[in-house]
Amino acid sequence: MNVLIVGSGGREHALGWKIRQSPLLTHLFFAPGNPGTSELGINLAVDPENFSDIKREILENEIDMMIIGPEAPLVAGIRDFCEKDPDLQYVKIIGPGKAGAKLEGSKDFSKQFMGRYGIPTAGYASFRKETAEEGFRYLKSIRPPFVLKADGLAAGKGVLIIDQLEYAQDALWEMLVGKFGEASKTVVIEEFLKGTELSVFILTDGSSYILFPEAKDYKRIGIGDTGLNTGGMGAVSPVPFADAAFMEKVKTRIIEPTLEGLRTEKIEYTGFIFFGLINCDGDPFVIEYNARLGDPETEAIMLRTEGDLLELLNAAAEGRLSEKQMGISDHAAATIMLVSGGYPGDYEKGKIISGYDQAEDCTLFHSGTRLEFGKLKTNGGRVLAVSATGKDIHEALEKARSNAMKISYEGKYFRDDIGFDLS
Ligand code: AMP
Ligand code: GLY
Repeated sequence: MNVLIVGSGGREHALGWKIRQSPLLTHLFFAPGNPGTSELGINLAVDPENFSDIKREILENEIDMMIIGPEAPLVAGIRDFCEKDPDLQYVKIIGPGKAGAKLEGSKDFSKQFMGRYGIPTAGYASFRKETAEEGFRYLKSIRPPFVLKADGLAAGKGVLIIDQLEYAQDALWEMLVGKFGEASKTVVIEEFLKGTELSVFILTDGSSYILFPEAKDYKRIGIGDTGLNTGGMGAVSPVPFADAAFMEKVKTRIIEPTLEGLRTEKIEYTGFIFFGLINCDGDPFVIEYNARLGDPETEAIMLRTEGDLLELLNAAAEGRLSEKQMGISDHAAATIMLVSGGYPGDYEKGKIISGYDQAEDCTLFHSGTRLEFGKLKTNGGRVLAVSATGKDIHEALEKARSNAMKISYEGKYFRDDIGFDLS
């Protein structure tokens, strides 16, 4: 099969690394990919949201399967575009259409959806500019901290957690009048849930599903989970508190009702669902849905996923997932993200990266890098994901950390306390 992976980050590199191992693969392409993915296949210089360019590449390269990594093309309707086009009927697509991607693309929709199917999540109310006064009163009626969420996609920045009522009211108004553009014209205000977060992933063909290894992501920039939110500074898998009893609750209270809800609403869904969960005293609650895999979680969990991923994806695309099973290795995996100095605020690009060729007993996935005249340079906030395995998460983290130290570039930063809260 010829496979095209859409996206350019560490998640797409890790997916490609796993798919490259499949005997079913003929040629692998990335759109647009990065210097890491160019070692696995062919990078095509196209924008994932330019669907007519994607179509041209699909036809020119005789692509059999397209896997969509990031959320933006899914929410913009890349699947719907292909399904409507008579030339692209044969292409197998991993990723939902617009209707399914709304689980991620609209927090208001996803909260209503969870409400309809009794899926545990924080209490909430939604407001628009016309109902701002009600929003101010609602904030007064609930206890801090206040959780304000832009309804639409806001590049991971659309959630504000604020302790003081006046600041929360000001922030609500700023959001409603356009702080995050169209995305915050509707704002969801949520009850604050206290607990430990984890990421749970499934692949589904709409009726059956396969559970992937769970992971814990570390979103804050600073040591001890402090400071600004980032795209993710590291991840570990497995998550010690996600034992069989907890995962059973996740399946029966969250995963199965979600799939049942999609079927009831006649939303066809072939692809990944990422359940952003929080463990509140042993009970799982949904913080958010995503219509894709997580980054950097994918860079960790691909190291624990056994067997032929492409065979599974092919079965999902053909509606035959119920025939399949997936092995999960007993060893642990960890990822540490190397980022640019200043991230998630302003940072400079173009710093020469060295030492990566000395990495050993680990896997490097590229996030924001570029090659210039043979030199590898930084090209984004998140630069390289250093992933390693071990007998437990501490051994895996130690390997990732010692390799993270070998890599240098001006302004390099990483969190050396990933996993600090897990025993
Ligand atoms: P989201 O984009 O919805 O995942 O939210 C970003 C982050 O905000 C989450 O990873 C949580 O750390 C935090 N968060 C979101 N909703 C809540 C909530 N209801 N209670 C506590 N923390 C939350
Ligand atoms: N690591 C969180 C995300 O991919 O949204």
